[in-house]
Amino acid sequence: MLLGQNILQPIPRTIDYDREKAVLGKHLFFDPKLSRDGTVACVSCHSPTSGADTRAASVGIKGQEGSANAPTVFNSAFNFRQMWNGAAQDLKDQVRIPLHNPREMDMDPGRITKYLRSDPYYGPRFEAIYHRPANFEDMSDSIAEFEKALITPDSSFDRYLRGEGQLPEKAIKGYKLFKRLGCITCHNGINLGGNSYQKMGLINRYHWSEKNPDRFSLTHRPADKNVYKVPTLRNVALTAPYFHDGSAPTLRDALKKMAHHNLGFDLQPDEIEALVAFLKTLTGKTPTILQRKDSPK
Ligand code: HEC
Ligand code: HEC
Repeated sequence: MLLGQNILQPIPRTIDYDREKAVLGKHLFFDPKLSRDGTVACVSCHSPTSGADTRAASVGIKGQEGSANAPTVFNSAFNFRQMWNGAAQDLKDQVRIPLHNPREMDMDPGRITKYLRSDPYYGPRFEAIYHRPANFEDMSDSIAEFEKALITPDSSFDRYLRGEGQLPEKAIKGYKLFKRLGCITCHNGINLGGNSYQKMGLINRYHWSEKNPDRFSLTHRPADKNVYKVPTLRNVALTAPYFHDGSAPTLRDALKKMAHHNLGFDLQPDEIEALVAFLKTLTGKTPTILQRKDSPK
């Protein structure tokens, strides 16, 4: 999807994924034993209700605070890259990052392989599904397969796009504003984001810190300071706090700052209310793989 296409698309109702691998990946996603001291699982920072973290900065093993707000893993399969700066090509490639991060899970492939092979559930499951002993690559694959299943279709906005339902008047007003004010130039496609890198502070400067997980931290090009992958707005009513630094505690606050820094004007109170009403229609159904009680190990 290209920037400037200015098209919003509904989330498909189903997505192809391998159910056996995804169920295995679900166990892994919820398993704190994948961290060095056995206290932090993927789900510790990516909650099952929103896929995101309610804390401004995530907390890893030994209570260490990270430097970024955890984005939602829901619908992340539709993002063109993963992480705020796009450091991971895709979901499978992303898995190594939190596992290796000494401030998050602090594990290495050797330790993980040893744990998975000796575990009475994982050992045989990996053999049965991947036809070889458990290893880091297959573990990443099964977690990615689980994450693929984390889609949230059938939001009232998607039903409206499909011509299956109406939206409240205020939400329609917000949708029109979203297009007219130019939010849609950066937040578009299936995820209303997730398909381009853009600057935070395009018009009015946003403070910058060396700790930022921005494109600059990867490319070291000055123009990439405060450039991030545009976050998805899917389920955004559930994913407070906002921005890479978690600095906006509420959606209203995030909208004010977004308009000021990236569009160069201040929103009127009634515009904020209309935009919030629109953004609330982007809350979809809980992913089915989370609704179902898959047999615990
Ligand atoms: C200690 C908290 C923490 C743990 C544990 C954690 N994450 Fe994250 N996750 C984050 C943060 C913070 C980010 C954003 C970091 C960045 O982009 O610099 C992130 C980003 C992501 C993203 C990228 C989403 C996007 O839109 O770019 C995915 C996918 C993800 N995590 C999956 C996982 C998986 C799978 C695990 C377990 C193997 C995991 N996370 C464990 C905090 C955590
Ligand atoms: C020039 C591109 C651009 C425009 C225009 C833009 N945004 Fe954003 N938006 C971004 C980027 C980049 C971020 C991430 C900023 C950060 O984390 O520092 C973001 C973040 C957000 C967030 C926070 C999401 C989260 O999970 O943290 C919301 C909400 C949002 N934008 C809504 C809007 C609305 C509504 C408009 C129109 C009034 C708009 N944006 C206009 C690029 C843009």
